[in-house]
Amino acid sequence: MTPVSHPMESRPNDTDAFWMPFTPMREFQRDPLIFTGAEGMHYIRADGRRVLDGAAGLWCVNAGHGHPRIVEAIRAAATRLDFVSSFKMTHPDALAYARRLRDFAPAGLDHVFFVNSGSEAVDSALKIARGYHHARGDAARTKLIGRAKGYHGMGFGGLSVSGIGRYKRGFGPLLADTAHLALPYDRETMGFSDGQPEQGAHLADELEALLQIEDPASVAAVIVEPVIGSGGVYPPPKGYLEKLRAICDRHGILLVFDEVVTGFGRLGAPFAAQAFGVRPDMLTCAKGMTNGAVPMGGVIVADHVYDAFMSGPPEMVELFHGYTYSAHPLACAAGLAVMDVFEESGLVEQAAATSPLWRARTLALKGKPFVADIRTIGLLGLIEIEARPGEPGARGAACARFCLEKGVLVRGSGDMLVLSPPLIIAPDQIDLIMATIEDALHTVR
Ligand SMILES: Cc1ncc(COP(=O)(O)O)c(C=O)c1O
Repeated sequence: MTPVSHPMESRPNDTDAFWMPFTPMREFQRDPLIFTGAEGMHYIRADGRRVLDGAAGLWCVNAGHGHPRIVEAIRAAATRLDFVSSFKMTHPDALAYARRLRDFAPAGLDHVFFVNSGSEAVDSALKIARGYHHARGDAARTKLIGRAKGYHGMGFGGLSVSGIGRYKRGFGPLLADTAHLALPYDRETMGFSDGQPEQGAHLADELEALLQIEDPASVAAVIVEPVIGSGGVYPPPKGYLEKLRAICDRHGILLVFDEVVTGFGRLGAPFAAQAFGVRPDMLTCAKGMTNGAVPMGGVIVADHVYDAFMSGPPEMVELFHGYTYSAHPLACAAGLAVMDVFEESGLVEQAAATSPLWRARTLALKGKPFVADIRTIGLLGLIEIEARPGEPGARGAACARFCLEKGVLVRGSGDMLVLSPPLIIAPDQIDLIMATIEDALHTVR
């Protein structure tokens, strides 16, 4: 048989066949960014240049790239048990990992539903919220409340509760039964805050007002990122999440924390729920679960939510929901190894110890050219840059490009420079990131 010839084979950088997510394809094709390896705090480019990872991949690689413990766990799992469905069967690592997650999560969140991404975690949580009320004979509660600037992934459910309008354009109609809270942020009083703004708890009262419009008895759940991530790193004002919790309790509404970014040590606690001392009824996670090494997500569910489903004939499926790859053996093995790494190297504590320096160095960019605002908490940071007149996003993109050429990966999102380094970042690496950004701000127009 004559071998089929692939005309692109001789052009390894040709990007035509790969339609990439959230990427301007035609621009990317002019100058593709390709990483061929990664190690610890660095990515490695095809020509061997090392790039300091200021983004933990995409808020994922909290323990640093290529952690030997995690790599070995995946390798061993692949040779032991390649695949088993979770529909009416399972494997020991799934059971063990669910128990470890239960211990890592806030007390009372004792049941883990495994999925394969943050988007699936959010859509699963929204379905479980509706199913919970249905199971309790309160099927009229279907409404889902999100928040401005919220990002909850790309499924139709998550997109419907998200608060970033441009991501919805062209994909409607979305879920009809949604409403949104405003962003609890005011630059005048909260700009350049170090961690949680002192003022602003009263902004949670908007939920009470919204419920009076929507009818509280029609609402299934409120979903928020405890710290808004992709939408622009907005820490919650002190007391705000506590108030949301109290209002939800008053009206029998479930509170869901989307912890896809804030989970796994990012805020110097296992989850934001522990960092802020507010317990949701469900918590979604992904990314850091496996250190980004194998796709995985999860919904960690409170006992009372789980228990509501455990009625009816015991031979009946209680939740008609799930995915082929839920609790995939490779992902569970990676997740267990991540738990070991967190415990043995005290990664959560390390993040908590590094955070004051991180926040101080980030905030030290105040007053540099074009800096309009800085928001930082835990090991998250965001520098908002004044847009170039008539060219929104151009200056931010130029800064991110400048940093990359200097060997530092900073995520440019419009005119925002988004930072979320691996939790193992060292002080001199923090200095290098901030010095490079400062250099960029002095160089770009
Ligand atoms: C808060 C939040 N939720 C959900 C998601 C979606 O996760 P994924 O891209 O794994 O589907 C993200 C992704 O960045 C996120 O930041």
